[in-house]
Amino acid sequence: MSSVRLLALAGSTREGSYNQRLADLAASAGAAGGIHVTPLSLARYDLPLYSDALERSAFPEAALALKAELAAHDGFLIATPEHNGSIPAVLKNAIDWASRPTGDESLVALTAFRGKVAGLMSASPSPFGGLRALAHLRQILSTIQTLVVTEQVAVPAAHLAFEGAALKEELPRQLLNGLVRRTAQVAAALKP
Ligand SMILES: Cc1cc2nc3c(=O)[nH]c(=O)nc-3n(C[C@H](O)[C@H](O)[C@H](O)COP(=O)(O)O)c2cc1C
Repeated sequence: MSSVRLLALAGSTREGSYNQRLADLAASAGAAGGIHVTPLSLARYDLPLYSDALERSAFPEAALALKAELAAHDGFLIATPEHNGSIPAVLKNAIDWASRPTGDESLVALTAFRGKVAGLMSASPSPFGGLRALAHLRQILSTIQTLVVTEQVAVPAAHLAFEGAALKEELPRQLLNGLVRRTAQVAAALKP
């Protein structure tokens, strides 16, 4: 398991994002458990909205860089906000760019995603903690050949759940630790 490399990211570029806090906590939990987790902020990637014309004329540098970062890892820990019952456009756009073939790759190669593993989290001020977004993200990742582990973490009432960067309650902390461990275990088992 020590050779497994996971990437932790959030589907939010909002300053103070609850989901970025969850992704960062997942990275810290990994480090504490001897699991390599790279924290990533989508805010660092200046991704244009996906367009076929742009893809054909000049594949954006930021999209290439994000795809390379995803491709260099065995699995992902993704914390998604819920926007109108689904995942936010910023996360879908990032996934869409990274799913596109580059160089002499075939259309279905999906090099950033195929054979990878994902563990999912969500935080929302609502009482449901982003459960609908989690279901949609699970379906999207499955479509692009990423295996999503059965464990997941939903943090409701996110505006009350954090003390700074930390989760106040023990239960979500335990669930998050378990999610990171499980994602790393499955990624290790699937690693070629
Ligand atoms: C366009 C939009 C739609 C939203 N729709 C939902 C929703 O369907 N369910 C929900 O729980 N919260 C919804 N919210 C509130 C978000 O959960 C909240 O803004 C949350 O803080 C976003 O996550 P972040 O803190 O990681 O950026 C919505 C927010 C926006 C801006």
